[in-house]
Amino acid sequence: MPAGPSEVLVIADYTANPAFVAADLLSQAEHGVDSQVVLVAVDLTPEHLSAIEKEVDDQAHALSRVEIVRESIPKSIIVKAATVEEAIAFSNDYAPEHLILHLENASQKVPSVENAGSVFVGPYTPESCGDYASGTNHTLPTNGYARQFSGINTLSFQKHITSQEITAAGLEGLGPVVATLADCEGLQAHANAVRVRLREASRR
Ligand SMILES: *[C@@H]1O[C@H](CO)[C@@H](O)[C@H](O)[C@H]1NC(C)=O
Ligand SMILES: *[C@@H]1O[C@H](CO)[C@@H](O)[C@H](O)[C@H]1NC(C)=O
Repeated sequence: MPAGPSEVLVIADYTANPAFVAADLLSQAEHGVDSQVVLVAVDLTPEHLSAIEKEVDDQAHALSRVEIVRESIPKSIIVKAATVEEAIAFSNDYAPEHLILHLENASQKVPSVENAGSVFVGPYTPESCGDYASGTNHTLPTNGYARQFSGINTLSFQKHITSQEITAAGLEGLGPVVATLADCEGLQAHANAVRVRLREASRR
């Protein structure tokens, strides 16, 4: 699975606690100078946005990795969305490694998420818990690859077996197409495996 610099995208609406949002943004920003930090603000007032920015500033100065944060935060962005739907559409295009939802009824919005490595739902679900203790794996796709790949999960350790049974009537419909394709590839025995059955079926 392609894994690159770590990313977080936080979607926040009027219910979001500025201190929680800021802490989540900073916990990504302290990873490294190449960390990607995005805040999508859903119809937030200028006062609410300022409160978040002030919290980022205050909390950052108390961090021992403040020098890393000083380099990663200037590259972070705030996107303003009019509605939750618009915010989630942006996030689906961005396909973040970590998506944190500071939204009213956050769990009801999860089914709209189409692309994300892992989703952290509601005010009391910091990404830190997923990284260390809450059970989901933190090996997740970055750089937009959440469009194509899933993070490590229990399915990654299961194998799958396919099987099929074709009826005589089914083979009469499908067989000629298969025999023709086998002929085209010069695989006569493949074609015979179909034709021997079709001849038998036509005698019944
Ligand atoms: C939140 O859920 C309540 C109860 O189901 C509903 O009345 C309200 O409209 C929902 N709000 C949002 C923003 O989804
Ligand atoms: C994530 O999965 C990898 C591969 O199985 C494993 O080595 C690692 O311990 C897991 N980490 C967490 C936090 O579950």
